Amino acid sequence: MSFKNRLVKFVVDTGFRNPGIMKLIFSIDDVTGVDLVKTLAPFKLLPASAELFQRSFAHFVSGEEISYACATELATIVPDGASAKYLLVQAGEEMTHLDHFRSKLDQFGLGEAKLSKFVAPSFANFGKAIAKRLERNDFVGAMVGNNIVVEGLAICLLEMGCKDLRANSDEIAKFLDFVLEDERHHVRFGERRLRYWNERGLVKERDVADFYGEMWGYVQGVAHEIPDVLDSLGLAPDELLRMSKTFFEARLAGAGLAITA
Ligand SMILES: [Fe+2]
Ligand SMILES: [Fe+2]
Repeated sequence: MSFKNRLVKFVVDTGFRNPGIMKLIFSIDDVTGVDLVKTLAPFKLLPASAELFQRSFAHFVSGEEISYACATELATIVPDGASAKYLLVQAGEEMTHLDHFRSKLDQFGLGEAKLSKFVAPSFANFGKAIAKRLERNDFVGAMVGNNIVVEGLAICLLEMGCKDLRANSDEIAKFLDFVLEDERHHVRFGERRLRYWNERGLVKERDVADFYGEMWGYVQGVAHEIPDVLDSLGLAPDELLRMSKTFFEARLAGAGLAITA
């Protein structure tokens, strides 16, 4: 590792291991109006800017809230006990992720109260659309919306994005890997349960195609509403769309559903 990289790693890791430093930097930004975080970003010392950092977190927090609410509710309407039990475990894991994201925000002195104003409109639609499916006891639709699309998108973001954060901070890299591992299980569970229900004639392919098409529209909307946030995660909108579409449709194919948006 070059001297410059070692120096960068030392400075950034120190920053993340001592949240007080991040908090101080964010408050200097607030008081002076000088975006110190942004100034340091080209040197990869810190994420792109305090606001972009907060907006990225806003989407992760919102995604966890959607998944927590869905897993909790879905556990009460799925037709088999094994799925219900797994979904309760999943809900507990989503709550753990939420607690982690919230505690990081707290450590950095970033209030959670205004997070909702940072969430892209299309992203907020994910939760509303899934809630409608749950209200109708449509467990297949809710599983497609949450365990395939919302959590699949989280996997794409965590695997493809966040490269700078991972490279710069061991603590953040471990935290993201912990969340990623759980999300992979949740998506795999969704794919396998859909296949199980499909084999028993409980899945109407046309309904899944319609709802997947609606959710895919929101994914496209999100990618174009927050290009700067994606950029701060090291992602181009089209790149994310290409990868996520391939990922979602491979999961649906795994469930025996030949569906494309
Ligand atoms: Fe999660
Ligand atoms: Fe999850």
